[in-house]
Amino acid sequence: MLSLGKKEVLIVYRKHLRFLLLVITSALIFWGCQSTNVGPPGPQERPLTWAEMDLVQRKAHMRREVLPAAAGLFKDWRPERFANIDCSLCHGPGVKKGNFNMPAAHLPRLSGALLLGPEFEKHPETTRLKLNRLVPMMADALGVKSFSIVTRRGFGCYSCHLGPSGPLFGN
Ligand code: HEC
Ligand code: HEC
Repeated sequence: MLSLGKKEVLIVYRKHLRFLLLVITSALIFWGCQSTNVGPPGPQERPLTWAEMDLVQRKAHMRREVLPAAAGLFKDWRPERFANIDCSLCHGPGVKKGNFNMPAAHLPRLSGALLLGPEFEKHPETTRLKLNRLVPMMADALGVKSFSIVTRRGFGCYSCHLGPSGPLFGN
């Protein structure tokens, strides 16, 4: 019968540990990329993900899901200022010409600091509202993951705002 010494056991264990770590990392990356089917049915009746929707479907999804949720959230926060919001709140004046590009140039540029230090310092209230409510609400409505500090990808502040010198974090 084969019997392994302490050293061999350790080597076998190391080999497996490496494999296990690889599996866990791949699973995490895969999980991080997964998106939910939030849209209208596509081929084979499977609902489309946000990434799969065309322009018309995206506009409809914005009107049906994003706009009402955002209207509720902003109105809760500052009832007078945000009594009536529309697509231009996030997309800016370009919506009249059909420009829905994000991130949007009419919004204030943010610092680019990963932990939002300058934002928390200068605008604690709006930063907390955005981080705790707007970002999760939007990620949910679009069926995508929220921004992760580890992967530096996902839906976050820079999905709407520009950084100091342009788009950041893959947006
Ligand atoms: C609360 C903010 C918000 C509001 C209000 C909003 N949008 Fe959007 N919209 C976004 C964000 C953020 C994206 C980018 C999503 C992403 O990461 O792909 C987007 C993307 C889009 C796109 C896709 C653009 C592209 O290049 O594919 C369209 C079209 C669009 N919005 C239309 C609308 C319309 C029409 C309305 C009003 C009914 C609206 N949006 C209201 C935040 C908003
Ligand atoms: C869905 C789009 C969207 C996302 C995501 C978003 N914002 Fe905003 N942000 C806006 C809009 C629209 C305004 C203008 C309305 C307002 O004053 O809140 C704004 C304004 C701001 C302002 C300026 C406030 C002022 O009074 O001048 C700051 C600061 C800000 N956002 C920080 C953040 C931070 C930090 C995050 C991420 C935690 C974030 N935003 C995520 C849409 C967004």
